[in-house]
Amino acid sequence: MNAPTMQGLNLNAPSHVKNARLIAWVADMAALCKPDSIYWCDGSQQEYDRLCQQLVDAGTFKKLNPAKRPGSFLACSDPTDVARVEDRTYICSAAKEDAGPTNNWMAPAEMRATLQPLFDGCMKGRTMYVVPFSMGPLGSPIAHIGIELSDSPYVAVNMKIMTRMGKAVYDVLGVDGDFVPCVHTVGAPLAAGQQDVKWPCNKTKYIVHYPETREIWSYGSGYGGNALLGKKCFALRIASTMGRDQGWLAEHMLILGVTNPEGQKYHVAAAFPSACGKTNFSMLVPPDAFDGWKVTTIGDDIAWIKPQADGSLRAINPEAGYFGVAPGTNTLTNPNCMASLDKDVIFTNVALTDDGDVWWEGMEKDTGGLPAHLIDWQGNDWTPEIAKQTGAKAAHPNARFTVAATNNPALDAAWDDPKGVKIDAFIFGGRRSTTVPLVTEARNWTEGVYMAATMGSETTAAAAGQQGVVRRDPFAMLPFMGYNMSDYFQHWLTLGEKLAASGATLPRIYTTNWFRKDEAGKFVWPGYGENMRVLKWMIDRLEGKATGEQTMFGVAPAYAEINWTGLDFSAAQFNTVTSIDKAAWAEELKLHTTHFEQLAYHLPQALLDTKAAIEKRLAA
Ligand code: OXD
Ligand code: MN
Repeated sequence: MNAPTMQGLNLNAPSHVKNARLIAWVADMAALCKPDSIYWCDGSQQEYDRLCQQLVDAGTFKKLNPAKRPGSFLACSDPTDVARVEDRTYICSAAKEDAGPTNNWMAPAEMRATLQPLFDGCMKGRTMYVVPFSMGPLGSPIAHIGIELSDSPYVAVNMKIMTRMGKAVYDVLGVDGDFVPCVHTVGAPLAAGQQDVKWPCNKTKYIVHYPETREIWSYGSGYGGNALLGKKCFALRIASTMGRDQGWLAEHMLILGVTNPEGQKYHVAAAFPSACGKTNFSMLVPPDAFDGWKVTTIGDDIAWIKPQADGSLRAINPEAGYFGVAPGTNTLTNPNCMASLDKDVIFTNVALTDDGDVWWEGMEKDTGGLPAHLIDWQGNDWTPEIAKQTGAKAAHPNARFTVAATNNPALDAAWDDPKGVKIDAFIFGGRRSTTVPLVTEARNWTEGVYMAATMGSETTAAAAGQQGVVRRDPFAMLPFMGYNMSDYFQHWLTLGEKLAASGATLPRIYTTNWFRKDEAGKFVWPGYGENMRVLKWMIDRLEGKATGEQTMFGVAPAYAEINWTGLDFSAAQFNTVTSIDKAAWAEELKLHTTHFEQLAYHLPQALLDTKAAIEKRLAA
């Protein structure tokens, strides 16, 4: 032990921790938060097992039946702490314009003054866990290190699954290596002798980012992206700022590999808003007709993408696990995911079966019926009759699983490659019941950036607030942008120019919309594995095998260009998901105008020019 003693509290820093800035920061945070003790995580399996047992003893975890779900636990949160809180999330850049109109902003000094009394003594009666983690393969030139201080052992065990967490991080960090300091508290100090609750949290919540100093401060929530600070806070909000400054991209994108029967492999990065099927698409099982085709997962939620000297883009998944939405997941929608969940999983806010297993809405498709009885995510009895009468959901719609990537049978061999994989195409997928066609290829980079910048989407349960409302969600990054959205558009445009200048072939850019509905309000496109048909068309385009048809926005497939073997999908149905309704698009473009007016500060002229060109084509 080489650490100083802070006001009677031993820092307990292990001898392998040699980074002076880290030790000083932990000392400062301990002095502020006043935990009873400090525990430095080593990331070992023994430590994980011990903390899980501690969570079982505290009543936070329920150990699931080992015969059904070995090594797995269920946590049920406080009913008020179930999703990301976007209205409590702040980007505290020095200048308000740098946060831009899509972010909540407060001046850093004012926010620090607001947080100071909240953090003062916030960990009393608790342990402060020091969680060292690498976002991306340890030592990869694309990876970065973070240290999370948290008073939640639930966070510590989730971080073990979601990141490369543990002692080895200190070897990379060394004496003077850089890290992103992330401090998290549930905001529920315990008085001497006070009994803890199963899911401590505070009704006051702040999820705060200081982009200039690259700090994250999170107060009051123990749930998901509010608390696992490597994910949305670091890997997207802070990393997007790092990417702006250093010339790379931090994106809300899955990364998949797709290999054709000849063994030719492509890599695709795809942005879809939260809870719109990124995990499903990244683990897609091709339909029988696609014999010899293989889809493999590099990542399911976040991509860090860096330009290389040869003008190519290489991407890593900064995460090491999946924190996915459970409801709706079954062997029809995502068989690889269901197989991933067989063992060693932390479930949060799903229902408990009478034989000690888990259940969520959507599983009835596998079992052919609803279970007769469950304990729902709030601890109440649930039966099909109760559900019918009250509409009660057994699992919360934003219930999650936390599972290691290595559980995924479709994991790509290169998922952990420090060099990353070369990106051949980008997909931007909105969730729209109307208007936006199944798939379109941008004719050039700028048109692709326009499509991504104007993406609209119906909101989901991943964030607190109303569901199903259409909002503009540029690049699926609206809740995750760490700086001014218009500057981010420019960053994409500039990157495209640089890649083109180096003579490289730029990745193609596509938009998709799996979610169009017919007049009866039913989804028309079957989705899931059938999305392979659209993916194959994209590959055909990359290989110059499909000409497509020119539309107002770009290139779309002709009906005959999609492989329909094994799927009964008529030309009329195809028309329902691909047709362009000129009147609807005239309305849509008015919304683009409003959107651009909101983003007027620094909005790239190239996007206004692209819009004018589309309007002209629409009027023609
Ligand atoms: C997520 C989200 O948890 O986007 O990935 O909300
Ligand atoms: Mn996400």
